[in-house]
Amino acid sequence: SRKIKIAPSILSADFANFGAECRAIEAEGADWVHVDVMDGHFVPNITFGPATCAAIRPHIKGVMDVHLMIAPVDSYIDAFAAAGADVISAHLEAGPHIHRTLQAIRGAGAKAGLAINPGTPVEAVEYLLDMVDLVCVMTVNPGFGGQKFIHSQIDKVARLRRMIGDRPIHIEIDGGVTTETAPLVAAAGADVLVAGSAVFKGGSVDNPAPYGTNIAAI
Ligand code: DX5
Ligand code: ZN
Repeated sequence: SRKIKIAPSILSADFANFGAECRAIEAEGADWVHVDVMDGHFVPNITFGPATCAAIRPHIKGVMDVHLMIAPVDSYIDAFAAAGADVISAHLEAGPHIHRTLQAIRGAGAKAGLAINPGTPVEAVEYLLDMVDLVCVMTVNPGFGGQKFIHSQIDKVARLRRMIGDRPIHIEIDGGVTTETAPLVAAAGADVLVAGSAVFKGGSVDNPAPYGTNIAAI
């Protein structure tokens, strides 16, 4: 069976202690560290930019997975690559030239991720699959942690897994991952599970059970 990676999202961590938070989640078994960049324009929330990513980088031993929820994207790719991002994901919905954006991410030396919102059909990624190392299926509308998992996206994951076939492309799930939803998306073919509130805040609004920071339980 497929090896499932857990990527805690530091969106739900203590923003004044990112270094300690990254070290703590890696010590608890995090496979990747998921870093949510929001611009208050593509999504209705603002987090931080490349300078913060560069400051976090030395505190992460493994993969720094940077999820860009920004528009425009292209003019910032080099800065996030220079900040040490291993994976840079851009949204298909963030502009008219996602093909160019994905080329630019690989050109900057990072793995290219393609994120799609819940309302975007899976067929939209078909002619981009030769340009990506990861497809991120959003299972909430991007912008905030702690939202309710959108179950219709499980079918999207299954269809995406069939489209990908034996290509070495990760399917990442982002939003509403809990001990209850994680097995559903893993069975549908996802192999990287982002989890914010389930790791840092003891559960989402949907599942307020005390998961604590028990990454192993997800
Ligand atoms: C949402 C972000 C997610 C978020 C997930 O816009 O992209 O990475 O942190 O948080 P949870 O796991 O709480 O849904
Ligand atoms: Zn994210």
